[in-house]
Amino acid sequence: MKTVLTGITTTGSPHLGNYIGAIKPAIHASKDDETRSFYFLADYHALIKCQDPVQVHQSTLEIAATWMAFGLDTETAYFYRQSDIPEVAELTWYLTCVAAKGLMNRAHAYKASVQKNTDSGEDTDYGITMGLFSYPVLMAADILVFKAHDVPVGKDQIQHVEMARDIAQRFNHIYGEHLVLPRAVVDEDTPVLQGLDGQKMSKSYNNTIPLFVTEKQLKKKINQIKTNLQEPGEPKDPDTSAVFQIWKAFATPEQTTYMRKEFENGIAWGESKKQLFELINTELSAPRERYNELISNPKHVEATLLKGAERARTHSQELLTNLRNAVGIRPLG
Ligand code: TRP
Repeated sequence: MKTVLTGITTTGSPHLGNYIGAIKPAIHASKDDETRSFYFLADYHALIKCQDPVQVHQSTLEIAATWMAFGLDTETAYFYRQSDIPEVAELTWYLTCVAAKGLMNRAHAYKASVQKNTDSGEDTDYGITMGLFSYPVLMAADILVFKAHDVPVGKDQIQHVEMARDIAQRFNHIYGEHLVLPRAVVDEDTPVLQGLDGQKMSKSYNNTIPLFVTEKQLKKKINQIKTNLQEPGEPKDPDTSAVFQIWKAFATPEQTTYMRKEFENGIAWGESKKQLFELINTELSAPRERYNELISNPKHVEATLLKGAERARTHSQELLTNLRNAVGIRPLG
């Protein structure tokens, strides 16, 4: 059986881009009987970027509630919080002791921070924590602890999965074939959603449409999508329009053909946004109700995560028992 695993860092609130790019395809994939899916909230990773405890805590609840609201089957998929799996922290150390420092020096996220310091004339290490530097080792532990084969990620994370593979290989070389070598899976068909300004929708660009706001707020956000000054009746180019691009991500092929025609016929921007709101809202309204119930019942979300961790740990505990033995940490006599 194939094991698929991916993590979601618990900083910020989920937006339409997260839904289209990660949540929706992952929940869909989890329905396949031939795969075992692990989806987890990467709260240890959150601490690397965010030292605001209230935000980390709130984001954990929001992200968990989001996945549950969209109908992730938490009885078949493994849905848990990284920090509830002590084996992740333990494995991180074993991996740290085989991971080459030179490999970590090459990580994009770390290099970008060094570059920023160089550009601004700071000391190269300024503001860089060991957490940021060792981030790929923690991520390797997440992946290797459950013997994942496939790791669905965005392009920016491919390097980290390759590092996990590299580290696993080194571990196996030294201690024997204990770890499964994972591979990154980037689905080219999954749309990367444009944000309000037409750039990739991302929290760091401040151009997102949040997933679960009121209908009124959703409408308001959609009205903020940048358009050009073309008048009603003027034919418009769908392929350069964020409105059309977001439409396409939610629409059936028939609905996409229809909207393409409407653009050619010169639909008014206001009208196209009104229809976009209706389309998105139809898909989100039932999950929104479930989401609001879950958010007001955090104990239920907590219990679900703990149960997920307990199920997941049957796998991680078994692996760590073997690894401890393999590295020479075992009872005397
Ligand atoms: N680092 C990933 C991100 O920022 C999140 C993540 C943490 C992850 N651990 C993982 C993704 C393990 C895949 C597998 O998006």
